[in-house]
Amino acid sequence: MSSTSSPRGRADDEAPPTTSDTTRDRPLGRPLVVLEHVDKHFGDLHVLKDIQLTVHEGEVVVVIGPSGSGKSTLCRVINRLETIDSGTITVDGHALPEEGKGLAQLRAEVGMVFQSFNLFAHMTILDNVTLGPIKVRGLKKAAAEKKSRALLDRVGVGAQAAKYPAQLSGGQQQRVAIARSLAMDPKVMLFDEPTSALDPEMINEVLDVMIRLARSGMTMVVVTHEMGFARRAGDRVVFMADGEIVEQNTPDEFFTNAQSHRAQDFLGKILTR
Ligand SMILES: Nc1ncnc2c1ncn2[C@@H]1O[C@H](COP(=O)(O)OP(=O)(O)OP(=O)(O)O)[C@@H](O)[C@H]1O
Ligand SMILES: [Mg+2]
Repeated sequence: MSSTSSPRGRADDEAPPTTSDTTRDRPLGRPLVVLEHVDKHFGDLHVLKDIQLTVHEGEVVVVIGPSGSGKSTLCRVINRLETIDSGTITVDGHALPEEGKGLAQLRAEVGMVFQSFNLFAHMTILDNVTLGPIKVRGLKKAAAEKKSRALLDRVGVGAQAAKYPAQLSGGQQQRVAIARSLAMDPKVMLFDEPTSALDPEMINEVLDVMIRLARSGMTMVVVTHEMGFARRAGDRVVFMADGEIVEQNTPDEFFTNAQSHRAQDFLGKILTR
């Protein structure tokens, strides 16, 4: 199926894209994150233009596009780190809360991993991970620690639990940041260039954790220039330019058969780097 060049062109209620055999064999679930006609300005700058995007439960959507195209802003509005000017965003059927306790709950349900790991420097790795479950989810300390240790093991840094962030490599810190988000039992995880601050030898250890997470069925929106990740774990590539979703397709189709000039131009630049 070919992609569309108009953000309105794709009927978002149509059947979700099928997974390729290199990713997962489960069908995709119900719409989990739905953006309808979302617009956002920073002053005169129109950074999100009539965005229509539905992320289904269990789907891994990879967002790519040139610098300044609005990828980070797209993630940030889903987590309500930025407000929108018009349109609607729902997560699991609920409109994003304006403020207060509802907003804290939303942030728990929509995990976010940034380029910079944002761990609390004065807290141990274990305490960084248990903080949210105790404060926001109301878990008892012992239960939170048990859960957090299991998650730290899952991302391969269980042995580092008693250390402080500065004692860990960048790749280890980013895996802790992923465990910290997972500790909140999020419904969806947003990743904004999670490997771009890392030394090359640490990139794969983080991508491996993300690929395993994708295969476990986590719903994910991932902004990344790692095309290997997109091909191995992505169900869909969304290409943005100038605040618009210019086209979207399965990774295989997108990388071999991009439709728009802007996507072809972008791919030409990054694939020949
Ligand atoms: N808080 C802000 N105030 C004003 N302008 C902003 C703000 N945040 C982002 N912008 C502008 O909005 C546009 C989109 O930014 P955004 O960070 O979403 O792009 P991006 O696609 O993530 O780029 P990159 O690949 O460089 O991370 C850019 O022109 C940026 O300069
Ligand atoms: Mg960005």
